[in-house]
Amino acid sequence: MQDLGGIVERALADFAAAPDPASLENAKARYLGKAGELSGFRPQGSPEERRAAGVAFNSAKQKIEAALEARRAVLAEAKLSARLTEQALDVTLPGRGRARGNIHPVIRTWQRIEEIWRSIGFEVADGPEIETDWFNFTALNSPENHPSRSMQDTFYVDVKDAKGLPLVLRTHTSPMQVRYARIHKPPIKVIAPGRTYRVDSDATHSPMFHQVEGLWIDENISFADLKGVYTEFLRRFFENDALEVRFRPSFFPFTEPSAEIDMKLKGRWLEISGSGQVHPSVVRNFGLDPERYIGFAFGSGLERLTMLRYGIEDLRLFFDGDLRFLEQFP
Ligand code: FA5
Ligand code: MG
Repeated sequence: MQDLGGIVERALADFAAAPDPASLENAKARYLGKAGELSGFRPQGSPEERRAAGVAFNSAKQKIEAALEARRAVLAEAKLSARLTEQALDVTLPGRGRARGNIHPVIRTWQRIEEIWRSIGFEVADGPEIETDWFNFTALNSPENHPSRSMQDTFYVDVKDAKGLPLVLRTHTSPMQVRYARIHKPPIKVIAPGRTYRVDSDATHSPMFHQVEGLWIDENISFADLKGVYTEFLRRFFENDALEVRFRPSFFPFTEPSAEIDMKLKGRWLEISGSGQVHPSVVRNFGLDPERYIGFAFGSGLERLTMLRYGIEDLRLFFDGDLRFLEQFP
């Protein structure tokens, strides 16, 4: 017969000494496990003696089990409070707050542009970035296979339109001239700012960029009107009444004559925008009679305007999402 008292004493001491749940479970196996110290119990002697031995055995086993449970609880509690201490929150620390975002410099330019052109009497229109070949090219007087299409490197979409031609990511905002003019009656005086896409990437060209289209069509709108309102726009945008602006002959299939608009900055002429008198074929595609209606259009780069306004050299900074850059435009 085992020395039950001794076993209980050693079990309790071992449990108390177990520093963590794993060693406690090891200690448990030594006493209560299959090959543990209590496992060989075989009561012997008279029935009287066997009953007494059984009672003693059960009571010893219960003491060990109770001690095990108690120690398990203590260790679990210790583990929890250790974790709480480790993750302690100092509620007296000042809050980190939530920084207020600010408006992206290009979007800021977009907003200023809308404000200025609205005050000159222009509506603001919005249109699709995924265009049909017809609106992006054909209606603008660049027929299929015409070399003028290669002026703009186009992203094609893997979906065909009703004519069987692939859709495109619009390469400019000019399709908005046609979309807007086909559903509004002259006088038409509108700008259409938005995103545009080209296979193009360097310090001054990005695959996604922003343009603003302008269109003014009526019975008697001349190049002089274009010069007047665009110069007014630039002077207000750059907050400089003495800003020098020049119209330099150029080519676009949808305007005739065509001009690049340049402005002078620190002694250098910089290109801001394409422009011109809307080509009679395009006026016809507006659904209007080119003998009666005439006017001008322009298309300017928003990144370019923003770079000149803030003296930014590399357009890619606009799209890196670097807060050190973006936070400079509060
Ligand atoms: C056009 O896109 C014509 N649709 C503009 C126009 C409209 C002419 C109406 C006449 C009448 P152009 O390809 O030059 O023209 O682009 C106009 C402006 O968009 C450029 O001056 C430039 O500021 C900007 N731009 C063009 N490509 C990029 C690019 N990849 N990244 C950033 N800006 C660009
Ligand atoms: Mg150009």
